[in-house]
Amino acid sequence: MDKILEVKGLSQVYGPGCNLCFTSTGPEFETNICPHCGSIVALHDLSFDLYKGEILGIMGESGSGKSTAVKCLYFDQMPYSGSAIFFDETGQKPLFKLNPAQRRSLRNHRFGMVYQNPNLGLNFDISAGGNIAERLLMSQVMNYSEIRARP
Ligand SMILES: Nc1ncnc2c1ncn2[C@@H]1O[C@H](COP(=O)(O)OP(=O)(O)O)[C@@H](O)[C@H]1O
Ligand SMILES: [Mg+2]
Ligand SMILES: [Zn+2]
Repeated sequence: MDKILEVKGLSQVYGPGCNLCFTSTGPEFETNICPHCGSIVALHDLSFDLYKGEILGIMGESGSGKSTAVKCLYFDQMPYSGSAIFFDETGQKPLFKLNPAQRRSLRNHRFGMVYQNPNLGLNFDISAGGNIAERLLMSQVMNYSEIRARP
């Protein structure tokens, strides 16, 4: 099967960051604020592979880093560390090493984002289903009738 996306060790820190951020935060410390530098560890060591035709859902409690992960992959922000490779007909694209023009091209032609804040991403002139379908159509994974037919 064709791999579409390979994410390895994706992490995000808001703040200056230090070499103790990851070893002094997390569930066992019951905080995501580094006691040494005050940075917020928003995401730590996310890795996954996504294959053609798959739909991946990421679940987690509020504040666990879901939005941060997606924002990094959509180039809204650069991660603190980690890598992501996008595979398409033209080959491999290391997402966080692309130049701004290459990033813009992927954002505009290959990726679609539905932001949590509906004003940013939803088209109120069409149905909720239509808004969701728009992103899937852009991904070329399914056509509209296939999308409608799925539960
Ligand atoms: N721009 C930001 N500056 C500082 N902290 C942030 C910022 N965005 C998110 N955070 C913090 O990062 C953590 C992860 O947030 P987020 O990715 O929004 O989680 P989720 O989407 O899973 O609810 C939370 O502690 C959140 O408060
Ligand atoms: Mg979120
Ligand atoms: Zn730190």
